[in-house]
Amino acid sequence: NASVNFDTASFPTLQNDLYLRTARGEKTERAPVWCMRQAGRYLPEFRAIRVENEFFKVCRTPALATEVTVQPMRRYAGLLDAAIIFSDILVIPQAMGLEVQMVPGKGPHLPDPLRTPADMARLVDARPGYSVDRELDYVYKAITNTRHALQGQVPLLGFIGAPWTLMAYMVEGGGSKTFALAKAWLFGHRQAAHELLSRIANAAAEFLIGQVRAGAQAVQVFESWAGELGPADFAEFSLPYLAKIAARVKSQCPGVPMTVFAKGAHYALEQLATETVYDVISLDWTLDPVAARQRVDAALQSAGQQGRTVVLQGNLDPTVLFGDAETIRQRTAEMCRAFGPAGHIANLGHGMMPGHSPEHLRVFLEAVHESSSALRP
Ligand code: CP3
Repeated sequence: NASVNFDTASFPTLQNDLYLRTARGEKTERAPVWCMRQAGRYLPEFRAIRVENEFFKVCRTPALATEVTVQPMRRYAGLLDAAIIFSDILVIPQAMGLEVQMVPGKGPHLPDPLRTPADMARLVDARPGYSVDRELDYVYKAITNTRHALQGQVPLLGFIGAPWTLMAYMVEGGGSKTFALAKAWLFGHRQAAHELLSRIANAAAEFLIGQVRAGAQAVQVFESWAGELGPADFAEFSLPYLAKIAARVKSQCPGVPMTVFAKGAHYALEQLATETVYDVISLDWTLDPVAARQRVDAALQSAGQQGRTVVLQGNLDPTVLFGDAETIRQRTAEMCRAFGPAGHIANLGHGMMPGHSPEHLRVFLEAVHESSSALRP
């Protein structure tokens, strides 16, 4: 593709570094704001691209991935403080050899999931000569191309799905209400579960490092199904892998801010703060920001880590955007006040949804700018 520039040496100078400064724990003039799934089906300009192009084709075509990543930046010019590369967490299962389809109206579908531990033999990551970087080179190209296209307006975020969430898709073959099949591995094939989780973690860490090399300026790890696990199982099957990924990426990419979003793992806030090296913890809307801030600070204190700052991200209930403009403004102001005047990256508690109004997202973004600036002296 002639329009794609893969030169990583000459990226445009970053103009808005509010997200990066905040993520590094600096005091800033206001909370930066972006939204999970800010590129997606709630945008008519995204749907227009999808009419002609299948989901994974968009992911695999750098010019298209760049276009949909930049769409919200264009529409909300000056209001968003970060862009997130258009891709999906399921590119890792694909790169490990499983077929993944995106079924319109239903979500991800893996026609040939891992039903038993023996099925792990079908995964290609252990084969001689295997390279995650080669399998996912198209994501790197999309990142490099997008970094140029952003012209330094805002930083570009890379991301991965965390091992437990990806294992759940790889075993269930799609989304699930109970996760009975994936959880049956945890309790019936404990060793095989750990083998699978560590193979995913290896691929994920390598992929995240590759995304930084390609131009991602910060990264986020999505453990979307953390809340399906109780505290003890989270501690055994999720946390160690989240911690390992962060340690490995940090050692290779010092100074690149890392965020963890363990949706539903409210019980694990202290452990995420003190037993991992993530700079930012993203909260879903079921956590009270005041209590979360206190718990994190108390945990850092008692772990002798008072020198570290852990930034919190979040956490407006995405469905508030289905309400009226006045309620959105009011709830956003309350949220900003609750997080306080420092150490906060504003976001939703989960992603944008297909039925959301783009104008209501604008109300949220403007409200963050206004309420959050007003909190500063
Ligand atoms: O704007 C962004 O945030 C970047 C792009 C992004 C997508 N998926 C695009 C996408 C990101 C960060 C993801 C991550 C992702 N994918 C997660 C973690 C975040 C979360 O929501 O918890 C998960 C669990 C997935 C798996 C996945 N991919 C699901 C469950 C679905 C269906 C969702 C739905 O609303 O039906 C997808 C598909 C997907 N990924 C879409 C988009 C824009 C919609 C698919 C389409 O265009 O048809």
